[in-house]
Amino acid sequence: MRALPEWIAATVAAIDDIATDVRQIRLAPHRGFTPAPLGAHLDIAFEINGLARTRSYSVVDDSAGGWTIAVRRVADSRGGSRFMWGLKPGDTLEITAPFSHFELSPGRPDYLLIAGGIGITPFVAMAKQLAAHPSARLLYTGRSRDRMPFLDRLTQLLGARLQVFTETPLDLAAAFATLHPEGEAYVCGPPRLLADARRRWQAAGRSQALLRFETFGSGGLRDPESFTVFVRDRDVSIIVPRDASMLETLAQAGIDLAQDCLRGECGLCAVAVIGAADIDHRDVFFSERERSEGHRICACVSRAVGAITIDTGYRASLSRQAV
Ligand code: FES
Repeated sequence: MRALPEWIAATVAAIDDIATDVRQIRLAPHRGFTPAPLGAHLDIAFEINGLARTRSYSVVDDSAGGWTIAVRRVADSRGGSRFMWGLKPGDTLEITAPFSHFELSPGRPDYLLIAGGIGITPFVAMAKQLAAHPSARLLYTGRSRDRMPFLDRLTQLLGARLQVFTETPLDLAAAFATLHPEGEAYVCGPPRLLADARRRWQAAGRSQALLRFETFGSGGLRDPESFTVFVRDRDVSIIVPRDASMLETLAQAGIDLAQDCLRGECGLCAVAVIGAADIDHRDVFFSERERSEGHRICACVSRAVGAITIDTGYRASLSRQAV
């Protein structure tokens, strides 16, 4: 588990629209500027309807004493996109310095980067690093080129080793088949892409350690809707609004769960699911089998449809003994 992040004030130094519904925002920290490690993201804290929220954004540039991020406008935003698109130059935010769980492993014979939509952001700096690597490739999927930021910059860096997919589907099995056996694949994008990559990587018999994910836990297989969570060990029902996570809503009600990444990667916030529930798993922590069993849910990103009963492991009698 990483140490608790230190929050620092930062000013919105510049805002540029760089693709349809994609905005680039440069944040100038008031102190402690450091270059961002490869694959780094920073967290931004804000409030919506009086509730504290945190969202993560990859750093796409760290020049001129600031960190630049890119934010897609999301029609059904849970709050982060809506808040970020409301910012103006000169606004002040609370942010963390960039940190990375998604660093490029040095010395691999081959690299394959796979981006879906705004999942391109961690690969902007990586493409620069890999520009001189003879076989490193970037496969970039999106709905249309006008909605895909950084195409010019990536083409300059990678030339024909950048492959763009808008209408033809990305064939992950074929992409993995042409990757060196000791090569690594890095994937960032929506849950469907991550799940597909994981399935096809496994089918190809490749080492799980050589497949790396980055996720921002913001998208699911279904549109986010409010749902009711019954916390059995506290005997309480709580409504999770469509623009908040179960973890945030439980914390607001005084039920704090263990947590770290807040992006569905570490599994620390997982709680037991009691009985049947229709779960929209948005994590990359559980295996396909664990997801289909539906015994646990990552409260920081995953959602239920309708209602869910969980058990957080809290026992009042043990709690009283500890006092
Ligand atoms: S806090 Fe890491 S998966 Fe939820």
